[in-house]
Amino acid sequence: MILRNAEPGDLAAIAEILNDEIDSGTASWTETPKTADDMTRWFDGRAASGFPVLVAEDGGAVLGYASYGPFRAGEGYRGTVEHSVYVARPARGRGIARLLMERLIAAARAAGLARMVGGVSADQPASIDLHRKLGFEEQGRLKGVGVKRGRRLDLALMVLALDGDGQDDG
Ligand SMILES: CC(C)(COP(=O)(O)OP(=O)(O)OC[C@H]1O[C@@H](n2cnc3c(N)ncnc32)[C@H](O)[C@@H]1OP(=O)(O)O)[C@@H](O)C(=O)NCCC(=O)NCCS
Repeated sequence: MILRNAEPGDLAAIAEILNDEIDSGTASWTETPKTADDMTRWFDGRAASGFPVLVAEDGGAVLGYASYGPFRAGEGYRGTVEHSVYVARPARGRGIARLLMERLIAAARAAGLARMVGGVSADQPASIDLHRKLGFEEQGRLKGVGVKRGRRLDLALMVLALDGDGQDDG
C-alpha cells in the first residue's frame, strides 16, 4: 500500500469512489454524480490553496483518498479545516482510511492548523468509529439537516483538536 499526493491522473478513480457513495450510499448527501470537470475544479482549488489531496494506491489501483479544505468562510476560521475520507467499497475494513487519516492529520499539524472537523452522516457507524479511534470527539449532532433519497438524516460533527487544546480527554 502506497500513500502519496494525488495527481490529475487519479481524478477519474477518485470520482468513481465518490460517485459510488453518491449513487448508493448515505455518507455523501450530494445526489448528482461528479463529472470530470467538477473533479478538476475541486482538485485545482485544493492545490491553489495548498490543501493536500492524498490517495492510497495498491497494485496500481487507487483504493481511497482523503483531503481537507476550508471549514467556513471568514478569517476567524483560518485554523480550522473540514476533511473527507472515502475508501472504495471492496477495499474497506483493511485499515486504509486509518492510514490516510493519520497522514492527513500529520499534514494538518505540520501546517499549524488548530482543528479538523468531519461532518459525518450519523447513520455511518464505521465512520463515527474511525473518527473516535483517531481521537476525534463528537461535539454536536444536527438533527434532520440532511436528506438523501427521501430519508432525513442527522449530521455528527466530529472534531479533532490538532493543537491538543480545548478538547475533553474523553
Ligand atoms: C468510513 C470509511 C472511510 C472507513 O474506511 P475503512 O478503510 O474501511 O476503515 P479502516 O479499515 O481504516 O478502519 C478504521 C476503523 O474504522 C472503524 N470501522 C471501519 N469499518 C467499520 C465497520 N464496518 N463497522 C464499524 N466500524 C468500522 C473501526 O473502528 C476501524 O478500526 P479497527 O481497524 O481498529 O477495527 C469507509 O467506510 C467509507 O469510505 N465510508 C463512506 C465514506 C464516509 O463515510 N467517509 C467519512 C465521512 S468524512
